[in-house]
Order: sequence, then C-alpha cells, then structure tokens
Amino acid sequence: MSPPRGGAEAEGDRHRPRFHLTAPAGWINDPVGALRRAGRYHLFYQHNPHGTQWARPHWGHVDSRDLVHWRHLPEALAPDADGADADGCFSGSGVVTEEGAALLYTGVRGAVGPGQWQATCLATSTDPGLRDWAKAAGNPVTPPPRGLRLTGFRDPFVWWAEDGWHQLVGSGIVGRGGALLHFRSPDLRHWEDLGAALVGEGEHVAGEWAGRMWECPSLLQGPDGALALVSVHDGDMTTHHTIGIVGDFDGATLRPERARRLDLGPDWYAPCVLDDDGRWLVWGWSQEARGPAGPARAGWSGTLTPARVLTLADGWPRLDPLPELARLRQRRLPVDGSSVEGSWRAATAGDALDIELTLTGGGEAAALRLLASPDGEEATTVTIDRAAGRLELDRRRSSRAEDVTADVVTAPLVATEGPLAVRVLVDRSIVEVFAGAQPLTARVYPVRADSQGLEVTASPATRASLVVHTMGGATPPA
Ligand code: FRU
Repeated sequence: MSPPRGGAEAEGDRHRPRFHLTAPAGWINDPVGALRRAGRYHLFYQHNPHGTQWARPHWGHVDSRDLVHWRHLPEALAPDADGADADGCFSGSGVVTEEGAALLYTGVRGAVGPGQWQATCLATSTDPGLRDWAKAAGNPVTPPPRGLRLTGFRDPFVWWAEDGWHQLVGSGIVGRGGALLHFRSPDLRHWEDLGAALVGEGEHVAGEWAGRMWECPSLLQGPDGALALVSVHDGDMTTHHTIGIVGDFDGATLRPERARRLDLGPDWYAPCVLDDDGRWLVWGWSQEARGPAGPARAGWSGTLTPARVLTLADGWPRLDPLPELARLRQRRLPVDGSSVEGSWRAATAGDALDIELTLTGGGEAAALRLLASPDGEEATTVTIDRAAGRLELDRRRSSRAEDVTADVVTAPLVATEGPLAVRVLVDRSIVEVFAGAQPLTARVYPVRADSQGLEVTASPATRASLVVHTMGGATPPA
C-alpha cells in the first residue's frame, strides 16, 4: 500500500472536517488516554500513520490549552517488532502520576481474531510536554487471567482510589457475556486480580442489548451513582455502539440498575473520558460511512467528535455539546426567515456550522435540510417530530456518490415540555444532532460544490428561532 498523502492535499479535501480532529495523515480510530498535565489537555488516538485502513495501531497525540484548538505532536507509542506490542498498541488510558504521566495500553501479538494475544502494557513520561514515552521493561504488566475463556482482553481503564490504582479491562466470558475484569496495584506495575467487576447476562445488561465483548470501558463515579461506558462488540468482528450502565459501585463490583445507548447515531463509538475537575468530558470516534476509495484518495480516514459534557440527568446518562465550542465560532450568518403558507422557513448556507434551533409554541415538528444543493439533488434531512416522539436523519440523498451509506436513521425523541433547544454541528462530512439527552452522529458525503444550503421548515403551530455560526478549524493550518 502506498503511504497516505497528508498535509495540504488532505486539507483541500472537501470532506475533511474543520473543527473535528482528523489525523495529520492516515487512519484514526478510538480517542484514548485523555489527561491534563502542566496546563494542557492531552489526547491520544489509535492511528495508522502508514495508510487509510486500520492496521497495527500507534498512539497519535494532540494537545490543547482550551479543548477546541489542538496541536499535533509526535506519535506517543509505536509497536516494537520484538516487544509485547509487536502487532499493535491498542487502546487504553492515561493517568497523571507523581513522576509525570503514564499510559496503560493494550499490547497485542498475532493476527486479529480469537487467537490474538492481548495484555496491558505500561509506558511513562517525565517530560512536562509528554513528548517522550518510555515503555516499561517488565511489559506486559497485566497478562490475561488464566482459567477463563475470554472473548478479548483489552482497553484498560485506570484510576486512582484511596487503596491504590484500579484497572478495568474490557472483556467477555464465553457463554456468560461481556465483562469488566478488575485489577488493583500500588505502582501501576504489579497488579492483583480482583475478579470481574461486572459480567453481562448473556447478551444483555440491565435489559439493554450488550453483545458478547465490551471494548473501551470507563467508569465514572459521582454523587448520583456510578456510570460505566462500554462499547459493544459482537465478539466476532463487528463494532456496534456505546452503552452507559448506571449502577452502584462498591469499590469492587458494579451492580447495574439501568443501561441505554449514549449516542443514537450509527457513527459514534469507543469514547474516552476525562474527569476535568468534576466535569466529565467524552470524546468519540466517528468512523467513515463510505468505501475505502475516498479515504485512500484523500489520505485520511475517521474523525473524533469534540469533547461532549456527560452528566447523569434523572438517573440517565446525558451528552451535551462542550460550551467552549462557541470559541470556534467565526461569523453569525444572516438568516433569511419568512412565513410561507402558514409554516415558517429560514435559509442560509455553509458546510462548517454551529446551528442553534429553538422550537416553541405547538412545537410539533421541524425539518432541517443540510448540505443541500439548490435543486435538492443532494440534501441531508433531520426531522424533529415532537408529537410522534421521533428524531430522524435521512441520508438517502446526502450524496450523489455510490459507495456511501444511504439510509434513514430513526431514533426516539424523549418528550419534554416547553421549548426544545436543538443544536446541530455540521462539519463537512459529519453531522451531530443534539435534541435531548442522546445525540445522533452520522457521516455524510455531498459531492457537489454547491451542496451548502441550510433550510429549516417548521409546522404551522411551531415557533422557531434559528441562530447559525460558521466555525473555524480545530488545528492551525499546516
Ligand atoms: C475499538 C477497538 C479497541 C481496540 C482498538 C484497536 O474500536 O477495537 O477494542 O483496542 O479498537 O485499534
């Protein structure tokens, strides 16, 4: 495979997001290892710098002072041909230590599949800028426990508690269900096996479908209870979506009380969390919804969603846009609004937009047509139907291209009284809709240069207000 083209060439690509992070070149998947050190946020990501398909992951690295402007830094981790991570540095987490910072990641050996060997490895850095990472001589620090038939053993999530470091590893026990395996350590190097913190009930947990393998776990503990996030894998080769499991964590095991999806869209997975002084931030991976030819031509594949704020609202996980995103707003667009035959219409244009739509009055229904060509050949339509309790994203006409997903994504819209604040982030090939507690993220690929139109129509009884800003880029131009 030829190396991906990056830099200027990839910048000129109309599908490359502006305020969503992409790799400088190559493939990106899970965001990992988020931490704060010396006044900066550090975020890492699963990266193949040599191609636009997933292969032999490295850890890419970015940092930021404000969570919205990021700098690309040298790769933090790369596989070592004769190391415990010979075939990849898979996902994991980052923690701040007395000496600096540590990354706990999954070293893998062997081809992807049931026989692949996976174990937790450690790398540390004492450099304030976290440019230099040293892998521990004793790697791996946590091999998979013996005597269990596991569907996988990866993506350690590590935190500090009064009795030491804790590690949860994403797993599944054959015949039983997805599993979070729990370990404890005084020094991040020597880990005691504490058994499973949680095992699914077959393919379910607290009544929610949960597959057979849990990837990229995290555990957050707050005054209103504990929240575990797991990304559901069917145990073979397919990734599905992320669920939040709310329950009671007693320091050893999690008693699940309820669970549901975090994002209702098809293109959001493997989130990484950071406890930002009590505020929970969550980044996710938005994979491509097109064939491999486009990424191969453009030199990049996959994007990360900007941090979202995660809360427990009435006992359920809720994701909202990051307030700091407003700093990337460049210009407020004039909105040409009018009443046509009793319904309200407003129009403007752009392909990197922050859209705030407020529905009041009867508030039954509104539709947003995004990235629309003037003649309607291309358009993505988001329908918010409060009366029917339905949120829909129609991408059957999003793109004239053939090798893209063209479907209708339907999700429940939880009924609320009073005004409904809807936020839509459009960034060239990604759309994030926030209309309630669960966002909906999907990728779309308009090809026409004039597919920039935005139009909102609301049903007669609905009063709507629309504020639209153009958005600047997350990384300084190369
Ligand atoms: C999730 C995942 C992780 C794994 C990583 C490899 O997307 O499959 O479980 O560590 O990707 O890149």
